[in-house]
Amino acid sequence: MSFSIERYKEESRKLDTAGIDWQSVTANPLSKGDLFCLHYMMDIENHVPLYLSHLLVTRACMDPILTAFLACWNYEELWHGENIGKFLNLYGIEFDTQDRIANVRANLGFQNSVSLLSTMVGSWLLKDFSAVYLTIGAINELATLTGYGALIRKSGHPVLKDLLGRIIKDERRHFAFYFNSAKEWLTDNEKAQRVDRWMLDRVWVPVGQGVKTQEQVDALALYLFDDEQGEEELLGIDEKIGRLPGLANIKLMSRALYAARERRRQNLAWAFRLIENEEWAIAPPTKSPIGELTTRRTHAGVAIEGT
Ligand SMILES: [Fe+2]
Ligand SMILES: [Fe+2]
Repeated sequence: MSFSIERYKEESRKLDTAGIDWQSVTANPLSKGDLFCLHYMMDIENHVPLYLSHLLVTRACMDPILTAFLACWNYEELWHGENIGKFLNLYGIEFDTQDRIANVRANLGFQNSVSLLSTMVGSWLLKDFSAVYLTIGAINELATLTGYGALIRKSGHPVLKDLLGRIIKDERRHFAFYFNSAKEWLTDNEKAQRVDRWMLDRVWVPVGQGVKTQEQVDALALYLFDDEQGEEELLGIDEKIGRLPGLANIKLMSRALYAARERRRQNLAWAFRLIENEEWAIAPPTKSPIGELTTRRTHAGVAIEGT
């Protein structure tokens, strides 16, 4: 698995959706679990620009190769969210994408600013911050594409399979960048290896956690991976990440699945009640009204001056 930043810059483009049979989206039904996962995935894809804001203030972004990657990556991820939203709209779930994104952001609250500041300060205090960030990037991209693969399998929906199959190709390139960059940083660097492992064992959380609650993360994990094949796939992610220098036998994704199972064992309604109760539906923000954060939406329905 190789990665060339020059080639990536040349070839990066918005998701090619030519030939997707959008007219047939309603021809096959989706379960509540499928819909829950699609909303979760769309929200997290659409969260990338805010995640990027956390990265650009770190020491890691002094590296021009990384910022070149992030410039292209951010654009590609935008179109993943857009197209999952389009798919859901065509399936008959009505929502305004901008409102949905604003809702998710309004729910982040003060914690988002604290997290941004602590990541920034931490990165400047920790010389090997990049090793940790790049490894987390590799896990997140691999987990994302594995999740899309699992949803293709669970849903059996041909149009969704086509769309997610195309998105997976992008995610593979993202994974290749992060994995190779992490490997480069960690090779012959024992101190970075120790820091990386220590941090991953303590601060790593599955992709989406923070934007989504623990129970929502568990609902996705248990819906997609709580069977033999799913567990094997998560162990496969751990095994791949364990090939990075200093990370042999690390257990992250499988540990998260076992923890989710344990929480459900203690409370049988855990996680699946969210799927049953249609948790994915648009919920008004609980922490602050959208208008306070996005002034353009302060007066709904009023035309913005100059437009
Ligand atoms: Fe993506
Ligand atoms: Fe990605």
